[in-house]
Amino acid sequence: MTAEVPVLTIDGPSGSGKGTVSRLVAARLGWHYLDSGALYRAVGVAAGWANLDLGDAAALVRCTFDTTIGFEERGGELRVLVNGHDATDELRTETAGAAASAIAAIPEVRAALKDRQRAFRRAPGLVADGRDMGTVIFPDAGYKVFLTASAEERAERRYKQLKDKGVSVTMDGLLREILARDARDANRAVAPLRPADDAVRIDTTGLGIEEVVTQVLALLPRRD
Ligand code: DC
Repeated sequence: MTAEVPVLTIDGPSGSGKGTVSRLVAARLGWHYLDSGALYRAVGVAAGWANLDLGDAAALVRCTFDTTIGFEERGGELRVLVNGHDATDELRTETAGAAASAIAAIPEVRAALKDRQRAFRRAPGLVADGRDMGTVIFPDAGYKVFLTASAEERAERRYKQLKDKGVSVTMDGLLREILARDARDANRAVAPLRPADDAVRIDTTGLGIEEVVTQVLALLPRRD
């Protein structure tokens, strides 16, 4: 029974550190990992390849059903295959993020991706990272975390990441984008970004990744 497989949900806005924290926690526990944002990004990328209009909801819903999304471990790295093509790097771009955010507001797209996300629940356990993991996809999860951080700190983290990659951006531009994406994700009618009532909230402003990982792991039963 999949309901018996333990799930830890880690939700929060972009830049809250949930991707890095979720991956580390999953690795420490030896559990599977679901990067649910990658599914929305994958549909965004596929829609871009097909030159679809981001305002054409019906076409985007069709695109969601038609897009195959695979996760593959290659050389110790998780690669994402969209329609059979390795799209890992393209998925991380601002364009893919913006497309994902727009697509994620369409109820039928969210519904179409529900079962694909739930299929990740396999023994010995799952760490699910996203916006609605604890509220909609795994409401019965035994462990729920909601990570936050100030918008300024999130913009700064993103700025450093992009600078390391040689992408030129401004702090002001990033902060504006983050605030706009927050507003879109929090105000959409379906599955808006909000903590589950039973989620433990951790503000990561000023905290290092290891400190957050330790706080999250402390919520689970000791394994020694
Ligand atoms: O976590 P991320 O930045 O990869 O997510 C990209 C977009 O996808 C984000 O703007 C909101 C959307 N998303 C969502 O609506 N629900 C999820 N569970 C994960 C992501």
